[in-house]
Amino acid sequence: MRARTKIVVTLVAAVVLVWGFTRIGDWDVWAQKGASEPAAPSASASEPIDPAGSSASSQAPSDKPAESPSASPSETPDGTSSFETGSKPVEEPEAVTAMLIQNAPAMTVKKNSDGLAVITNSDSLLVLVNKKRNLSSSYIPEDLVVPDVEFSFSGDSPKKKLRKAAADALEELFNAAKDDGVTLKAVSGYRSYATQKSIFDRNAELKGAEVANRTSAHPGQSEHQTGLAMDVSSASANFELETTFGDTKEGKWLAKHAYEYGFIIRYPKDMQDITGYTYEPWHVRYVGKDVAKAVLDSGSKTLEEFMESYDQQAREASGKAKS
Ligand code: DAL
Ligand code: ZN
Repeated sequence: MRARTKIVVTLVAAVVLVWGFTRIGDWDVWAQKGASEPAAPSASASEPIDPAGSSASSQAPSDKPAESPSASPSETPDGTSSFETGSKPVEEPEAVTAMLIQNAPAMTVKKNSDGLAVITNSDSLLVLVNKKRNLSSSYIPEDLVVPDVEFSFSGDSPKKKLRKAAADALEELFNAAKDDGVTLKAVSGYRSYATQKSIFDRNAELKGAEVANRTSAHPGQSEHQTGLAMDVSSASANFELETTFGDTKEGKWLAKHAYEYGFIIRYPKDMQDITGYTYEPWHVRYVGKDVAKAVLDSGSKTLEEFMESYDQQAREASGKAKS
């Protein structure tokens, strides 16, 4: 009996030992859980960004492989470039990237004989005009037309005009607003160098040079001279160009949807250090649909930051072209 008991005990011990070895793998997995498991789907950088600002979690998970962000654009199989500006990764068609590089601020300005920084790509839809980049006093766009939209005033005026591409896009924008029950009115578009000079001088006289400088461009430094900018208002804001327009239903609609039609709000809140101007919820600038979307996706708040993010690539491309 004792011998049989010994055999039974030995057998049970052997079974327990073998079972124990089969569980070692499990214990090991528990110890490493999280580190060795694939990451659970989350609102990751590779997910499409909702431009309207709705919750990312409401979107279907992307089945695209995650792209590792890099400092400079890298080609993807679908002919887009993937790169990172600021905090969000961006995908844009290669042709758009090439156009942005071509119009990078560092490569599109020249000092004239008076030491004034003069823009060299005035006719480009991507021209960057600001206090550091001047249009020539003689620059007049060649394709100015009057868009078929409602204006806040009647009668003929050059300020009804925009360049053709911007005018077509403004018509689309205003019609889309109408479809959503929102009535926008155009207030001021193209201005010549001379008109901008009289506006600035009058503002300086009324409000003082310091205030005028923050709210109104010096002649040669206004986007209105490019024919790519329109000031927009609404009855709810008494057709005034005041910051309160941004709080109206119309101003909010414009801020949310402008990019869909190729426009950006050029002078956002609290960006005066970069744009040179205080908040102007009424001033929309045409850049084209692809670029307006790219600006939004990049997380850049200003055209300055967005365009300057292409300076390095433009310098490198120009260096390569020379060598
Ligand atoms: N108010 C804008 C900055 C302009 O005068 O062009
Ligand atoms: Zn304006």
